Amino acid sequence: MASVVYEGKEDFERRVRALQTKKNRKMAEAEVDLSSIGIIPRMIAHVLFVLFRIFYGKQPSPLKFKAIEVLARIPYQSWESLVFVVLTVFFSNEQLAIRLGKLGRFASIAQENETMHVVVISHLARKQSDLIRGVAIPAVSAFFYYWFCIVFALVSKKWALELNVLFENHAYYQYDTYLSAHAQNLKANTCSCDYLTFYGRNPKDLHEFFELVRNDELIHRNMSAALLTDIYA
Ligand SMILES: [Fe+2]
Ligand SMILES: [Fe+2]
Repeated sequence: MASVVYEGKEDFERRVRALQTKKNRKMAEAEVDLSSIGIIPRMIAHVLFVLFRIFYGKQPSPLKFKAIEVLARIPYQSWESLVFVVLTVFFSNEQLAIRLGKLGRFASIAQENETMHVVVISHLARKQSDLIRGVAIPAVSAFFYYWFCIVFALVSKKWALELNVLFENHAYYQYDTYLSAHAQNLKANTCSCDYLTFYGRNPKDLHEFFELVRNDELIHRNMSAALLTDIYA
């Protein structure tokens, strides 16, 4: 099981690179038992995935990834805000501060990582993008999803983390499917985007870019599950 505290962005990047081997990915995939996740997060995740299918199709595409990524960063963003607010009131409780600190540190690194995904993938999806599916649906859903994530985490941090495990698991397998279906085409194209350089990643081609994003999602999934076990069990 993944360690529950990141040592920083370099540690995150080291873990991402380690998942480039199939053996390490298989081991990481087996770390999380999805069958223990409760019915409420499961139902909400199901509704989200059905909506993605209705608006963006069953098969993964850059436009579908853009919609997924717009929502993917929101739980982390909302958790960071919540940690800040809760610590404003309960800063004298040291153990609570440590638990929230673990969640906050994970949320901060993951949020920065998901922001990179959405910026770069929006750049890649710009030719497919239209006003409704490329702009309006992601923007409106992001607004409502932010407030939903705040309320959901206040009601139950366990449910919030479980929903995130399912969301990240879905993202991981969507990227994996996309990589299998478009390997040749992705290897034939470079990935040039200023934001990627700013973030500190330099994949040799689009295939490697999507491989690393897929690995990111597996780490997000496993870290959410590790936090669930370590802090909120
Ligand atoms: Fe992502
Ligand atoms: Fe993710």
